[in-house]
Order: sequence, then C-alpha cells, then structure tokens
Amino acid sequence: MEQQNKSKNITWQSGEVSRAQRYRNMQQSGATLWLTGLSGAGKSTLAFHLEQRLLQMGLKSYVLDGDNIRHGLSSNLGFAPEDRTENIRRVGEVCRLMADAGLIVLSSFISPFREDRHRVRAAHQTAGLAFVEIFVDTPLALCEQRDPKGLYGKARRGEIRDLTGIDSPYEVPEAPELTLTPEGSPLDNCDRVIGLLWQHGIISA
Ligand SMILES: Nc1ncnc2c1ncn2[C@@H]1O[C@H](COP(=O)(O)OP(=O)(O)O)[C@@H](O)[C@H]1O
Ligand SMILES: [Mg+2]
Repeated sequence: MEQQNKSKNITWQSGEVSRAQRYRNMQQSGATLWLTGLSGAGKSTLAFHLEQRLLQMGLKSYVLDGDNIRHGLSSNLGFAPEDRTENIRRVGEVCRLMADAGLIVLSSFISPFREDRHRVRAAHQTAGLAFVEIFVDTPLALCEQRDPKGLYGKARRGEIRDLTGIDSPYEVPEAPELTLTPEGSPLDNCDRVIGLLWQHGIISA
C-alpha cells in the first residue's frame, strides 16, 4: 500500500516458507473478495452465505465484517471521512495478510470511497494476490425500506450523522468484477460469486 512509514528504521524480514508452499499446504490459493455497497445492501448476508458455501466445498475462508471489525480492530474509529479511510486501510492490510496466508477473505464493508478501495486493490496487485471487487448495488430507497438496523430512520430524524447515502457520500465502483442487483436472492448471488471465483481461477477442481 503506498503509504509513508512513520518509522524509518524498519527492514523487511523474509521467511523460509514461500507463498506457493503455504498455498500447497492449504490446498487452495488465497484471495480477497471485496463486497462494497450501502448499509442494508446485503453485504453481510452474502458474505456469511458464501462462508457457509465455501466451507461445504471444503475451502477455507473468513469473513471480515464492518460492524464486527468496529468492535475490535477499529474500535477507536468513527465515521468521519478520515476514520473511514483508516478503517479501510487497516482492513485492506488484514485482507492482504490473510490472503497471503492462503485464506479466501470475504470482506464486507460499505467502503464508500473509490480511492480507498483502489488502494486496497493496488496493494493486492503489487503483492501478486487475487482481488475481486463485488458491488452489491441495492438502491438507497430499497436499503432505506429494509432499514434492518434502524439507521436510516435515525439519520432522517437527525439522531445520527455521517450515514452513507444520507449525509455522507457513496462513490459507485467504476469497474467492479461483478455487480449484484436486488433482483437476485441471497442464494442466487452466492451462486454468481462462486461462478466468478471459478472464472478467476481462485477455486478450481
Ligand atoms: N438479496 C437479497 N434480497 C432480499 N433481501 C436481502 C438480500 N440480501 C440481504 N437482504 C436483507 O437486507 C437486509 C440488509 O442486509 P445486510 O446483509 O445486513 O446488509 P449490509 O451488510 O450490506 O448492511 C437484511 O434484512 C437482509 O435479510
Ligand atoms: Mg453488514
């Protein structure tokens, strides 16, 4: 990730086990599947369905989910733009580490800023790691109608601020590998993503 290191006195240490050896040991290749979309779009639902499906296929995956990460790794961050950027930078780094370790990482964050998502993609590419961006393209009106956490109601009543789509921007992905529209059920979407993983050689026979 193109970032300035605060510390100058650091040297990269190479291990003895190569990524190829790790992947052979894991009997799969690591990758990051990046789900992006508004709150209520269906990212978590899809990520958890996918985790279940991959497990049934004998594959090893792990979900990094927005709300859960804010309970721990990002518990010191809020929803101001710079905090959102830092959240995605951190999570992007964790994805990169997990994908390097050989896991199929299912990342489910609103990740509203194009540049933040791009930085995570570029960091994966630089490191030779597979990265697939999936836009869960559910229109705001439908997300607001679903409002499973009551956030849109609170935002409309002025009880909370910085909600993406209401008073904080969402920058639509320009070239995601897959766009999912609300016509598909969670299971349909799951099938489409599994198809995409085959297509990209992330899973193979
Ligand atoms: N494909 C879908 N079709 C219909 N409803 C869905 C679909 N995916 C998710 N939902 C519903 O939408 C709501 C929001 O889903 P969630 O996965 O929590 O969204 P996000 O993680 O993007 O905020 C939930 O009530 C969920 O059951
Ligand atoms: Mg969610």
